[in-house]
Amino acid sequence: MMLIPENEVLKQELKGVAERYDNKRSALMPMLQMVQSRHSRISEFAMQVIADMLDIHPVEVHGVVSFYSFLNSEPKGRFIIRLCRTISCSMQNKDRVARQLENDLGIEFGQTTGDGKFTLEWTNCLGHCDEGPALLVNDKIHVKLTPEKVHDILEECRSTFGLHAAQKKEGGNH
Ligand code: FES
Repeated sequence: MMLIPENEVLKQELKGVAERYDNKRSALMPMLQMVQSRHSRISEFAMQVIADMLDIHPVEVHGVVSFYSFLNSEPKGRFIIRLCRTISCSMQNKDRVARQLENDLGIEFGQTTGDGKFTLEWTNCLGHCDEGPALLVNDKIHVKLTPEKVHDILEECRSTFGLHAAQKKEGGNH
């Protein structure tokens, strides 16, 4: 069986999304989101292909990727943790939570752990100001955080990750 190169697969995936929008500019965001969710980052190659398909300047595609924090051109961890740094959370001891996250993961904000499991980022208000400090783990919100709770959340992520890895391995053996 002939293997299809990764870039060719990506092109086909992008073509599928672009066609749903008649190759119009409105396909830009759906294309970027598709690449982000399937490949966890938007490479230079993907940005160039998108620009070519939609007949727009690559700088415009770059601009959109860097504007939205949920789109990234660099590889990120399996779990992206975003801690709110806006005023209400700041007044509710978000610094203690931040310290716990950094100590537990051994990285600083803006970094990804060496094993590719966790990325630590700041975010602005998540709309849970009266239940702060608040953070997101991927799409899941956690509120009223304490250092102890943070530790439990990370442990839960680690066990989920372990489970997925084991299932993948098992699946691969069949
Ligand atoms: S200030 Fe943190 S959720 Fe609003």
